[in-house]
Amino acid sequence: MLSYRHGFHAGNFADVLKHIILVELLEYVTLKDKPFDYIDSHAGAGWYKLNSEQANKTAEYAAGIGRLVAEDFPELQPYFSLLYPDGKAIGKRPVLSRYPGSPAIAKHYLRSRDRGWLFEIHPTDYAALHKLMAGDPRMRLSGEDGLQGMMGLLPPVSKRGLVLIDPSYEIKSDYERVIEQLIKAHHKFATGIYALWYPVVDRERIKRMERQLIGAGIKRMQLFELGLQPDTTERGMTAAGMIVINPPWTLFEKMQKLLPKLVEKMAPQTGTYRLEVLAGEDASPPLPRQRRNTR
Ligand SMILES: C[S@@+](CC[C@H](N)C(=O)[O-])C[C@H]1O[C@@H](n2cnc3c(N)ncnc32)[C@H](O)[C@@H]1O
Repeated sequence: MLSYRHGFHAGNFADVLKHIILVELLEYVTLKDKPFDYIDSHAGAGWYKLNSEQANKTAEYAAGIGRLVAEDFPELQPYFSLLYPDGKAIGKRPVLSRYPGSPAIAKHYLRSRDRGWLFEIHPTDYAALHKLMAGDPRMRLSGEDGLQGMMGLLPPVSKRGLVLIDPSYEIKSDYERVIEQLIKAHHKFATGIYALWYPVVDRERIKRMERQLIGAGIKRMQLFELGLQPDTTERGMTAAGMIVINPPWTLFEKMQKLLPKLVEKMAPQTGTYRLEVLAGEDASPPLPRQRRNTR
């Protein structure tokens, strides 16, 4: 049995980056009046209590969402409105009692003809997710392996797809397997949008993942990373990122403005960010291939 529980980490800086990008992608795919399939290979529980024993044990959210005030980020209004559906965030430092996971965010965006496919292997989180989605005809849940499940759905019936791959990387071989499956998925459905989350615990491992994806000949791919500390050889996650295949044209420019602001709020002394076009062109005007900020 795997031991990872996302409740310990909900709302941390890595979740904030992931969910800001997920919101951008969902805003983009719902611009068109055509149905799409949302696939969440590692869905988690859906919502997380920030005042739970789990969350308070690590209090990771305090160094993540706890550092952000909605009024400093008017460009993130759609993201903040999910955290504060009653609009209380404006002008206040967030005192959140709960934080949404990726399925809750998707649930907000899916229209009646869209479909959500959610995979969660942990029985407790699966049960919570099941309760959250009960009676929602747009959602399909499964307790099977998410990467295998995802593969069986591609290409989606709608021919439009957004796939979030957000593993817990508990087993070292997960890094290899995730990339292998992502490349296969892209072969089956090259026009889909894929967002792969990764933690930076060992920089070399991430560099290897990037090289493998670039080597696979994917045509458009960008990377966005946020770190609270510079790389280290000690144990623990210092940064986290998202690799997006077939990103919306506006994403790079938006993240270019946003990442330094996030660093400023979350870790002004030690924070880092990366913004990189791994393949293809980014939005015009042409931008440098990589920005790195390590203070
Ligand atoms: C990082 S969490 C997901 C968080 C969620 N995507 C979010 O953004 O709110 C990873 C989840 O994947 C689940 N998991 C681990 N291995 C899995 C597998 N092979 N298939 C499906 N889910 C898995 C874990 O139980 C955990 O809940």
